[in-house]
Amino acid sequence: MKDGHGRTIDYLRISLTDRCNLRCIYCMPAEGVKLMSHDEILRIEEIARIARVATRIGIRSVRLTGGEPLVRLGVTDLVRDLANMPGIENISMTTNGVLLPRMADGLKEAGLSRVNISLDTLDPEQFTKITRLGSIQTTLDGIDAALEAGFNPVKINSVVVRQLNQDYLGFAKLSIDQPLHVRFIEYMPVGESEGIDGHGWGPEDVVPSEELLDIINERAKAEGLAPLEPIGGDDAPLGWGPARYFAFPGAKGTVGFISPLSRHFCGDCNRLRLTADGKLRPCLFSDREIDVRTALREGGDEAVYECFLEALDMKPDEHHDRVGTERRMSQIGG
Ligand code: GTP
Ligand code: 5AD
Ligand code: SF4
Repeated sequence: MKDGHGRTIDYLRISLTDRCNLRCIYCMPAEGVKLMSHDEILRIEEIARIARVATRIGIRSVRLTGGEPLVRLGVTDLVRDLANMPGIENISMTTNGVLLPRMADGLKEAGLSRVNISLDTLDPEQFTKITRLGSIQTTLDGIDAALEAGFNPVKINSVVVRQLNQDYLGFAKLSIDQPLHVRFIEYMPVGESEGIDGHGWGPEDVVPSEELLDIINERAKAEGLAPLEPIGGDDAPLGWGPARYFAFPGAKGTVGFISPLSRHFCGDCNRLRLTADGKLRPCLFSDREIDVRTALREGGDEAVYECFLEALDMKPDEHHDRVGTERRMSQIGG
């Protein structure tokens, strides 16, 4: 179905929980956030029911997010339900990868198609600094587990923050020998955050994608590598998101850029979000939400359907440079 601005909406991002086994500095405060109560959180069966109604407005692709979706009990059962749901063509997940070595095979068997794994640095010390709790090897093991389980494509999400001075070329080169799709994401001002050194998000923290592409190509040249070439159509990895893709000639994977700040993609926006506490959120950057949980619990499927219609109608044409939201990223799911 189309929204009020003529955009086809066929992608639903479902946040399964606001909890996470890491505490990335740009996403959560050190002490964590006030967690949603058991009653506020949608039950797994309720999520499946809402997803089924979502297919009636034309949702075809579903992404499970968090917090960390794999810490939610019943996640594999939900994947199986979604995989058996007529109308759902693709089920994906955004995860920090920590639990993938244990869970990847079961998820694949249940019908999960693809995973995007967050990894912001290749430096073990910096990884622990960014995630506050993590060790890089667990996430690297998660990436290996995803490849071994046969997910396709496997994407790496790397949020770029200028002061972190990440090894951009090192990341991009991960795509050469393995079928990995490395995506650099511009750091966004979502929710109040302490930022990298306690001063909160600032525009100076953002490395615009065009600048990043130049840096990568310059460093590649210094190593005798050919520059990244734009790719599109069937050569780009399967996805429903806003990334633009490039590749090193002959590489097995690709390098993508997600540029919410330097290149607004609102005009092509195709998605709605469902938060773990049952709110339909038409725009990542806007706190206007629809209470689908109450609609489901008090009104049933038809009331849920009305919520989706309302969400389509309410979706803004663009995000008008709004900075900050009430919810943190971990409570929206990216
Ligand atoms: P595929 O392309 O289908 O693989 O997924 P995706 O890129 O939509 O999903 P993922 O969860 O991996 O998101 C990657 C980054 O893009 C995250 O930082 C998200 O917050 C960001 N992102 C996804 N959708 C939107 C959006 O609608 N607006 C903005 N500003 N950022 C988004
Ligand atoms: N800006 C950009 N991306 C973010 N993510 C979390 N917080 C931010 C932010 N402030 C990313 C995570 C994950 C995805 C869901 O969103 O790294 O890959
Ligand atoms: Fe957890 Fe992902 Fe947020 Fe890091 S970015 S704290 S892994 S939800």
